[in-house]
Amino acid sequence: MAHVISVQNVKGGCGKTTTAIHLAAALTDMGYAVALADGDPQKSALSWIERRPAKCATIEGLDFTDLNLDELRALKKRKTLDYVIVDGRAAVRGAPLTDFIKISDVILVPIVGLPLDIEASIDFLEKLWEYRKVEKGDAQVAVVLNKTRNSGKIAERIEVLSETLDVEIAAYVPERSGMQNPIEYGMTVFDQQRVTNYAVREPFIELAEYVVAITE
Ligand SMILES: Nc1ncnc2c1ncn2[C@@H]1O[C@H](COP(=O)(O)OP(=O)(O)OP(=O)(O)O)[C@@H](O)[C@H]1O
Ligand SMILES: [Mg+2]
Repeated sequence: MAHVISVQNVKGGCGKTTTAIHLAAALTDMGYAVALADGDPQKSALSWIERRPAKCATIEGLDFTDLNLDELRALKKRKTLDYVIVDGRAAVRGAPLTDFIKISDVILVPIVGLPLDIEASIDFLEKLWEYRKVEKGDAQVAVVLNKTRNSGKIAERIEVLSETLDVEIAAYVPERSGMQNPIEYGMTVFDQQRVTNYAVREPFIELAEYVVAITE
């Protein structure tokens, strides 16, 4: 039985696909069997998998754009799979959001650590708490602070906010141009053995370890 980790925020461009791909890569690197379900009509996660060279560790892809819950449930039941990462679509609300929550064990909300982005995401976090499954703790919600370092005034403000909203911060991902290149070739920094890649991997290892710890 696989755990379903959904990466979701109503806000566009906050790093959902970046988080989903790197989390899938980090978990794969740790030896877990991982599938990536693309819930975004832009299908950027699926096209990344299609570009993936055969020599790289396998990450299975599922087109989840029409929210085919039965297919996803079948994937979840597969004994040989450990994690299904769902890359969510922006502007999700109503029935599609309910479906995402229904299938998720963990909901990761990437937020860029800038005042306007934070404000736009607070409403979404509050909305998640209106769902009984989240309120009861049957689906865990955590924030991934993207393009943000774990220091300085903004980080301090966000920590206060996370306490107020009672939501954990799973990882701080700094802004890094080095992440882009391998993506173009269906890879991530986990597929390339370069010393400069180790620091880029770190926040995603932290995120993967967080996910493993709360799903054990
Ligand atoms: N930590 C980061 N460092 C550098 N660039 C980043 C980082 N996170 C995201 N980006 C870049 O920002 C852009 C938006 O990221 P991404 O596509 O992951 O967001 P998204 O939430 O999936 O967007 P959409 O709502 O369109 O699906 C991309 O060009 C991505 O490469
Ligand atoms: Mg995306």
